[in-house]
Amino acid sequence: MRNAGVAGQMGKQVIVALDFASGKEALDFLGLFAKSGRKPFVKIGMELFYAEGPEIVRKAKALGHKVFLDLKVHDIPNTARRAMASVAAIGADIVNVHAAGGSAMMKAALEGLAEGAGAGRKPLLIAVTQLTSTDAATLRDELLISRPMEETVLSYARLAAASGLAGVVCSPREAPAVKTACGNGFLAVTPGVRFADGEVGDQKRVATPADAARLGSDMIVMGRPITRAADPAAAYARACAEFGVS
Ligand code: C5P
Repeated sequence: MRNAGVAGQMGKQVIVALDFASGKEALDFLGLFAKSGRKPFVKIGMELFYAEGPEIVRKAKALGHKVFLDLKVHDIPNTARRAMASVAAIGADIVNVHAAGGSAMMKAALEGLAEGAGAGRKPLLIAVTQLTSTDAATLRDELLISRPMEETVLSYARLAAASGLAGVVCSPREAPAVKTACGNGFLAVTPGVRFADGEVGDQKRVATPADAARLGSDMIVMGRPITRAADPAAAYARACAEFGVS
């Protein structure tokens, strides 16, 4: 089943990865945007969530931010379903699993979200394909996957679409093929985004915000280029301008 139109409904977004060790640091960081009047869509990942728990998601939501809760669930279907039932009650806008968990796990995760959300709003579920820090050599020599990167990403994307998910996390470079295979309404959420004059860090499959826009990414995820910038609000504004969102 395809979720035609999810990409259109959500609109293009620059998502800022709140990769901080404490809620205080994260909230102080969000305070830097107060003057700009902008409320970036934020991503809360394992580091912050494990330190602060669901409360940090609720705080970010209460401040007016949309939240992508990036917990990358990957477990047996029953555990994934029950985890997602708990996650649904937290109130994030987007949540995720690893596509490598397989279609039974992805379908179970969707069921869990429906159970946990009850009559409330159900978060969108997307699947991680291959981490953007994984390169061809890691895929071949460590994961023992002999198929090319793009083929494995596409196979995971097709599996996620067939399981009823709203989209995938992939590198901007893989977004065009994902859109061709799964339809334009299927979300391509892309980390591994760097300014042309910035540091790459541990990311390997990178693109600039403008490249990501040209390649059809719906939402870019940027962490360090914004969180570690001398002026994060200015770096966020630059990312929005380059990605083509107001
Ligand atoms: O600092 P940086 O821009 O590299 O942050 C990227 C963020 O996106 C991190 O929070 C990382 O966990 C996340 N991510 C990723 N690649 C994926 C999925 C998530 O880099 N495939």
